Amino acid sequence: MTKCINSPKELFKLAYKMASNLKDENANSFAADLPHIDKLSVHKLTPSLLPITNAMKSIGSTAKSTVELVTAIKNAYKLQAWRQPYLEKDIGSTFTNGSAWFPIADVNGPIVYNKGLVEIMLLNKGITYPKHSHSPEELYIVLAGQVWWEAEGGANSPCWKKAGDVIHHSPNQVHAITAGEEAVLILNFWRGGAFEMPSIT
Ligand SMILES: [Fe+2]
Repeated sequence: MTKCINSPKELFKLAYKMASNLKDENANSFAADLPHIDKLSVHKLTPSLLPITNAMKSIGSTAKSTVELVTAIKNAYKLQAWRQPYLEKDIGSTFTNGSAWFPIADVNGPIVYNKGLVEIMLLNKGITYPKHSHSPEELYIVLAGQVWWEAEGGANSPCWKKAGDVIHHSPNQVHAITAGEEAVLILNFWRGGAFEMPSIT
């Protein structure tokens, strides 16, 4: 029988476990900074789907380290509060129609967290998240598929990052990603800084 995990707490625990277990100092550090789940309150969010969330059915390959979280997300994606924070006039309709996020821990919930952000990003195949920057320090863990990553001053940038790979951005470091030939799922952490919208450069 398949175990169906769909509560934000379960997704949070799986994200914490994965980031703790990866052989990556930045991932371990972000995980260590998360409060214990029992210290955080949970708000119920109204599920919200966007047309792009259909791309969950065609995300790329996972890695051994990411398959457990991805399976949980696949089982639960229709219950999440998917959002598109960007406006078409600022970034173009290709991007707004080809990307979406849902929060696991955020200032507005579902897990109420004021010092950072834990969310899931979905990018359809071939979609570019253009160069942008923001004051919070950021970690991406590629969960499924692969992205072409570019970051000013980034080690080995530009290069492909695949499922199980970790990407770190310092505060205000300019960065961009483009999804490969399949849709991409990314676990995204922020810590520190302000909760401003990223500025597109
Ligand atoms: Fe970013």
